[in-house]
Amino acid sequence: MNMERSYSGSSLSSSSLGDSPASTSPLTSPELSDDGFDLDGAPSPLDEGYVSDSTGTPRFTLVIGGLGYIGSHTTLELLRAGHNVIIVDNLSNSYQTVLDSIKTLAAKHCKAAGTRMPLVHFHKLDYRSRSMRFLLESYTDLVMTIDASGEQRMTYQSRIAGVIHFAAYKSVGNSIKEPLAYYQNNVCGLVTLLEQLDKYNIRNFIFSSSATVYGAKANEGKPLREDDLLHHAEERVDAEGNRTVTQPSAVGLSCPYARTKYFGESILADVAASDPAWRIVALRYFNPVGCDPSGLLGENPRGEATNLYPVLTQVLTGMRPKLDVFGSDWSTRDGTAVRDFIHVLDVARGHISALGWNADRSLRDEGGFRAFNLGSGTGTTVLEAVRSLEAAAKRTVSLNWTGRRDGDVGVCVASTERANKELGWSPRESVAQCASDLWNFVERTLRLQPAVKA
Ligand SMILES: NC(=O)c1ccc[n+]([C@@H]2O[C@H](COP(=O)([O-])OP(=O)(O)OC[C@H]3O[C@@H](n4cnc5c(N)ncnc54)[C@H](O)[C@@H]3O)[C@@H](O)[C@H]2O)c1
Repeated sequence: MNMERSYSGSSLSSSSLGDSPASTSPLTSPELSDDGFDLDGAPSPLDEGYVSDSTGTPRFTLVIGGLGYIGSHTTLELLRAGHNVIIVDNLSNSYQTVLDSIKTLAAKHCKAAGTRMPLVHFHKLDYRSRSMRFLLESYTDLVMTIDASGEQRMTYQSRIAGVIHFAAYKSVGNSIKEPLAYYQNNVCGLVTLLEQLDKYNIRNFIFSSSATVYGAKANEGKPLREDDLLHHAEERVDAEGNRTVTQPSAVGLSCPYARTKYFGESILADVAASDPAWRIVALRYFNPVGCDPSGLLGENPRGEATNLYPVLTQVLTGMRPKLDVFGSDWSTRDGTAVRDFIHVLDVARGHISALGWNADRSLRDEGGFRAFNLGSGTGTTVLEAVRSLEAAAKRTVSLNWTGRRDGDVGVCVASTERANKELGWSPRESVAQCASDLWNFVERTLRLQPAVKA
């Protein structure tokens, strides 16, 4: 299919928006590349305003950072669920080959299910760049509406039904070395993006947040609940009718990265409070691991791996001599720290649930901003995590026991109650499954090297 067709019709040209003469249409902008396909077949199983409008015009979910680790798995799940997807990624921490894997897996799913392959458009683009505006414009129609006083006016109507924003820098260590780069990409970029989305009337937004926003709260050793970190005061009435007001608080955010996520959430909570048209969900991921069981899609960053499981695979494949274990004296069952590992496909499915929650206003009793934990709700020690990957790889990992690191906490586990209750989401996969899927990806990647990073 000629993808230019998807831009034709009633989309706005830059001149109709009164842009400067220097601006170009997205079709001619050299910064934008476009890719995608549309296979004929049975209609999609899902149509909740995300797939097409009442006239049958395709609607899209915009995934920013959609070729990264979590973004690629979420894009795949969106396609499997029948969403048309626009991916924006500047490939600063990913490779374009990921797009081929996503398409292959989605097409395979659709063929098996007898459903039509949704549209996939890819734009290699920094989401902070000027071209982002042209992109949004190219998915916008000008429509006549009648306001409350009976006046006719022209308004923007976007074919983008929702946005999932993954694009960010995420290394704790690098954020300490280069805080400005982190604030620029993770915070300033977000503000500019929100301004542009607002302009084009796209106000359905999902934000990648992190358990790191709980900061020192994790030290309390209890499962972390969403109201352990609030941005605005929240009132609660218990079963006896006692009223309590919890004030917003952030304690012990350990590094610039954590602060970028906290600031991002705060900005979003303020935006939602300012205009009821916004529907914003912040998903606080705990420790996403694993990958699609096909072994075709996984975590393949350009930067250095820092999370436990990717580092473990490097030890198992000889890229690192040993695994540093930070602390053996935590008050946990084996003395090593406890974390909440969650399969990345469960995280991906959490986004689909959040889109559904956003679409249903009756579920939103707390205003336009809501945070949800995406964790398994189960703690796994570092040693148990090591054993899980050893079992999958049938090899042993050499350990280097070192002291605790500054800022580390002993136990960090999610309460999943809110996500269960309000999103109808619960994790399906075990830590053993995470380890076996990850090892499958690593083995496949090793077999294909050096072609993998071409
Ligand atoms: N992986 C985790 O353990 C974890 C945990 C909690 C939260 N998060 C958050 O989830 C999100 C996704 O994480 P991930 O692990 O998939 O990271 P990732 O680095 O694999 O993916 C991020 C993607 O965004 C792209 N990107 C970055 N800056 C961009 C920009 N300015 N314009 C366009 N594209 C850009 C990168 O190229 C990459 O493909 C991030 O916001 C991260 O902070 C991740």
